[in-house]
Amino acid sequence: MSAGRNAVVAEGLGKRFGDKVALHGFDLTVAEGSVCGLLGPNGAGKTTAVRVLATLLRADAGRAEVAGFDVTREAAMVRRQIGLTGQQATVDDILTGRENLIMWGRLFHLGSRAAARRADELLEQFGLTDAAHRRAKLYSGGMRRRLDIASSLVLAPRVFFLDEPTTGLDPRNRGEVWNALRGLVAGGTTVLMTTQYLDEADQLADQIVVLDGGRKVAEGTPSQLKSQVGGDRIDILLRDEADVPAAAALLARITGVEPDVDAPLRRLSAAVRGRVATLTEVVRALDHEGLVAEDIGLRRPTLDEVFLRLTGRPAEPSTTSESEKTEVAA
Ligand SMILES: Nc1ncnc2c1ncn2[C@@H]1O[C@H](COP(=O)(O)OP(=O)(O)OP(=O)(O)O)[C@@H](O)[C@H]1O
Ligand SMILES: [Mg+2]
Repeated sequence: MSAGRNAVVAEGLGKRFGDKVALHGFDLTVAEGSVCGLLGPNGAGKTTAVRVLATLLRADAGRAEVAGFDVTREAAMVRRQIGLTGQQATVDDILTGRENLIMWGRLFHLGSRAAARRADELLEQFGLTDAAHRRAKLYSGGMRRRLDIASSLVLAPRVFFLDEPTTGLDPRNRGEVWNALRGLVAGGTTVLMTTQYLDEADQLADQIVVLDGGRKVAEGTPSQLKSQVGGDRIDILLRDEADVPAAAALLARITGVEPDVDAPLRRLSAAVRGRVATLTEVVRALDHEGLVAEDIGLRRPTLDEVFLRLTGRPAEPSTTSESEKTEVAA
């Protein structure tokens, strides 16, 4: 990351569609070479924000710069610096993977040799070399998505926008897309990606911006966001179920909050304020009362817990497959 330069700066962006407010005083700063995750539920304004920054849509209020150019006054310059993979894929099914990429290269005015060379580089980078000569129709969901992403990178953009890169993919395919994105970021590209998945933002983003109702409701590194929402939790797994009530009373006394208790599983969990002091105190007290723990530890809250705290409702995407829903809810 080159110090201090910002790839994206947005100030007070506003956008209405009729009486629907899609963006409302939205501010955003993304450092060059970093990955920013724009996290929010359906209708939060994520796609609108990306479309404004990618010069596809004009904001009603505020201003924004991408790669140092104003998105309204210097839209053509902005377009030369960016790549965009939208929420809907743009893969041509009857072409092979390689032909798809060459087509994009030609559309962007690369000569046929340069287009073929770039296609081969991208196939390699996105793990599609073996499938290069297969029709895209025969690709798995994850391969299609990777091909789609690769198509937006034909001109090696400085700033890359990705709108929900893994929505609709199963966990294995999501992992493949994440790996491809990690490779891209390692090469220095600035990435602004939207997602409804907390784990996705947690996996990839240096900085997370939480959007709800068209405005930013929180911002920070994944770990800052997690600590902002009420510190660590202490988890205890007891050896004997009979000890649960005594251990619960002890935890309540030390932490000052009622712990969550799952008696049959012998698990207790409570939010703590002082990290180390409290853990030590709990360990000593358990010892003192002759309660045996099989496992005891501190953990940060999950991003799901953070999201719930910040927006007042759980992060539950409505446009995903059933398998992913269970995963998010779990
Ligand atoms: N072209 C449009 N015409 C009318 N309303 C729109 C249009 N585009 C977006 N909206 C509305 O603006 C709000 C923000 O939409 P946007 O698509 O930016 O949300 P999102 O965060 O991308 O949601 P999703 O997770 O479902 O993709 C929503 O209430 C949406 O219905
Ligand atoms: Mg969207």
